[in-house]
Amino acid sequence: MKYESQKVAYKYFLFATLLFALQVVFGLLTGAKYVWNFDPLIHILPFNTSRAIHINLLVVWLLMGFMGGAYYLVPEEAETEIYSPWLANFQLYLFAAIGVAAIAGYIAGWSWGMPFLEQPTILKAGIVVVALLFLYNIFMTMLKTRKWTTIQGVLLGGLVLLAVMFLFGVFFMKNLATQYYFWWWVIHLWVEGAWELVTAAIMAFVLLKLTGVDRERIEKWLYIEVGLVLFTGIAGIGHHYYWIGTPGYWLWVGGIFSALEPAPILLMVADTLKDVRDRKAGITNRIALYWAVGCAVMHFFGAGVWGFAQTLPQINKWTHGTQVTASHGHFAFFGAYAMLNLTMVYFALPQIKGLKEFSQRLGFKAFWTMNFFMIMMVLSLTVAGVVQVYFQRIMGLDYLTTQGYMRLWYAAFGASGLGFAAGCLMYVVDFFRLGKSTAKS
Ligand code: HEM
Ligand code: HEM
Ligand SMILES: [Fe+2]
Repeated sequence: MKYESQKVAYKYFLFATLLFALQVVFGLLTGAKYVWNFDPLIHILPFNTSRAIHINLLVVWLLMGFMGGAYYLVPEEAETEIYSPWLANFQLYLFAAIGVAAIAGYIAGWSWGMPFLEQPTILKAGIVVVALLFLYNIFMTMLKTRKWTTIQGVLLGGLVLLAVMFLFGVFFMKNLATQYYFWWWVIHLWVEGAWELVTAAIMAFVLLKLTGVDRERIEKWLYIEVGLVLFTGIAGIGHHYYWIGTPGYWLWVGGIFSALEPAPILLMVADTLKDVRDRKAGITNRIALYWAVGCAVMHFFGAGVWGFAQTLPQINKWTHGTQVTASHGHFAFFGAYAMLNLTMVYFALPQIKGLKEFSQRLGFKAFWTMNFFMIMMVLSLTVAGVVQVYFQRIMGLDYLTTQGYMRLWYAAFGASGLGFAAGCLMYVVDFFRLGKSTAKS
């Protein structure tokens, strides 16, 4: 670690890690409702509340991870201290407080009801303030030295796009069709646009530092990647406009452009692997490299393959809104964004704590356990989804009868979820172990 203020990233990673664990707990609680009829929590935590908390925690911990990652990356790229470490801390606490208010609100029934954007308007306004403080701090840091590296540019572009797209989710529109039209401007353009840019920048930075590969070589790919992501990702929004009352041409736009969407992901994976092969010898932090390569591979399968499998209108008309969708949601979010944040944590944490060498055994155990069980979760949900499509959409059985036939696969999903939770716990323990060892150094 070159700059003292990079340390603010630690608190972001700490909060992100705790919220990740809590997200998994709520995942298990939500999943249990599919497996057992008996639900002692039904009056305080019905399915919709539990699900909302599960996915909100997901988004909040991922955003906190991105912010921590940015606070770690920018000083090194800009070659200066963070403009205001105080503001960076304040902004984290404000974000956490809004998160707590949101969860308490959901339990009390205070919710918009739209997935991922359930937060009531006043809390959304608070989130906008958090985003503005964050962007201001990052931008002022970059401005101090004006060293406009491509990595910094892509990161800033991604973060600004992320914040701007959120604005389309702040206002409540009475017409549900319009509401969902713009809902996708946030959800789709986040995960297939803005977040991809942030991911590309952070990944490029970690690979650069970890492997000592040429900056020019990695930055060249960043340009191609950004161009392609924006080109395919923006038009790819069409794959959400098939059945919500939008004009028929979206069937074509969605089908064609989202079929191209895996291309940039594939390039990114191939390039990461190529870089790794050509790296200069002697990478001591192997666990960070594993997370980076694992992220690239799981990103490709989760987003590219599982997304593509249901993206053509001819297929989507059957699978839309089934557990096939949820299997892709889990696979893509974990592979692309959870793993990116874990890559950054394993890269940055040892440096923040001043560790030259550290035991990586528990880290590897967490890596394999989480990845294995996530794949199991995804496969179980996919089969549950196929059963659902067959009975409900093809045979025409009603919703609840169909759910009965899916029970076995929900149970397999829940059991794999328990395995995943064990892997997550190993990661949490490892995080604290690494975090503590710093106190000594
Ligand atoms: C990392 C990137 C991605 C993430 C995190 C992600 C996540 C998600 C999530 C959570 C949903 C469910 C939204 C909802 O209805 O509540 C979804 C839906 C969908 N995604 Fe992705 N996705 C990614 C990339 C892709 C890509 C690259 C494709 C196409 C090649 C794709 C195709 C789709 C389609 C077609 C749907 C709609 C499914 C339906 O009709 O129910 N996604 N995605
Ligand atoms: C112990 C592990 C987990 C369990 C048991 C679990 C369970 C669930 C359940 C039951 C749902 C609701 C599905 C529905 O609406 O029918 C859900 C939604 C979701 N979960 Fe998980 N989850 C777990 C871990 C995770 C992880 C690690 C991630 C991402 C990193 C994640 C991301 C999501 C997403 C994105 C959705 C929304 C999907 C959509 O809109 O289609 N979950 N989860
Ligand atoms: Fe999408």
